[in-house]
Amino acid sequence: MNSKPYLKRSTMANHQNTMKRIGVYTSGGDAPGMNAGTRAVVRVAASIGLETYAIYQGYIGMLDKTIKPIQVRDVANIIQRGGTILKTGRCTDFHKPEIRKQAADNVKAFNLDGLVCIGGDGSFRGAHALWEEHRIPIVGIPGTIDNDIYGTDLTIGFDTAVNTALSCIDKIRDTADSHNRLFIIEVMGRNTGFIACHVGLAGGAEDIFTPDINSTTEKAVERILDSIKKGKRSSILITAEGQKPGRAYDLADSIRKKSGIDAKVCILGHIQRGGSPTSVDRVLASRLGAAAVDTLCKGICDVMIGTDGPNLVQIPLEVATSKEKKSPVELVQLSQILAI
Ligand code: F6P
Repeated sequence: MNSKPYLKRSTMANHQNTMKRIGVYTSGGDAPGMNAGTRAVVRVAASIGLETYAIYQGYIGMLDKTIKPIQVRDVANIIQRGGTILKTGRCTDFHKPEIRKQAADNVKAFNLDGLVCIGGDGSFRGAHALWEEHRIPIVGIPGTIDNDIYGTDLTIGFDTAVNTALSCIDKIRDTADSHNRLFIIEVMGRNTGFIACHVGLAGGAEDIFTPDINSTTEKAVERILDSIKKGKRSSILITAEGQKPGRAYDLADSIRKKSGIDAKVCILGHIQRGGSPTSVDRVLASRLGAAAVDTLCKGICDVMIGTDGPNLVQIPLEVATSKEKKSPVELVQLSQILAI
């Protein structure tokens, strides 16, 4: 596995021959492919004689000790299932040091020698703190539909979410075209516009709005009016939800005020988080899960396993959680050019 030049990996003392039992948990928003990741962790661990314990509902289960053995057969028939059989949760209490101490004590009480965390940047911040403060060895694998984690090309769930959103957009295009209408479709993405950029380009959108790329309503209106002059009768705008789900309605209002054009709004919402994972997500999650166990066994922790093209890479959790991965602005520009 490659490592980035700046990589300073944390290593566990005396790890060899001491790794007997590991834990696995999913945390933050669920993402299709998390189950494939869990399956890979449990089965690769079993293949080298390690026991695995499931920690249910992420940090919530770590705190209330919902921690149970998970066997090879317990992960049968889950590779194709969306959601996460381990359940997940957002544990705001984990920001408190005393709460993290409690969680670390529980991990130690269950004799877990290392953990695999499947989640997003918030989950990785918790994992990094557990290593820094209590020397709990954790390897992260990126699981979030947002694809917003620095240091990896892809996160588990992104490909499925894009394809789910795209199939909805294709359907909306049928009705938009039949009625000569403008539609504004809102996709997920709190701080980032990866889903918006990818479905925008793949769905032939007129314009794409993300939380981190400056697009203005004025420019979008200009583009729509121009396209009407050129004979276009229906258009689709894509917006990421940003910090304020429902912003598609604000955008529609603003367009109506500026141009008199009435826009229909469709918010895709949590449908994007569900469904059977695509082959891309199943393969990705299986590779990352296997590599996470291997990494722990080599005595390396406090890293995320990510992808760089076809290669797997190790990125320190501190780096993955402190740097920003920007939305792909080039896809917005290309989408605008191709929508003429
Ligand atoms: O998991 C990422 C994500 O789906 C974001 O795109 C979205 O903003 C957020 O989670 C919604 O989270 P929740 O389901 O907890 O409201």
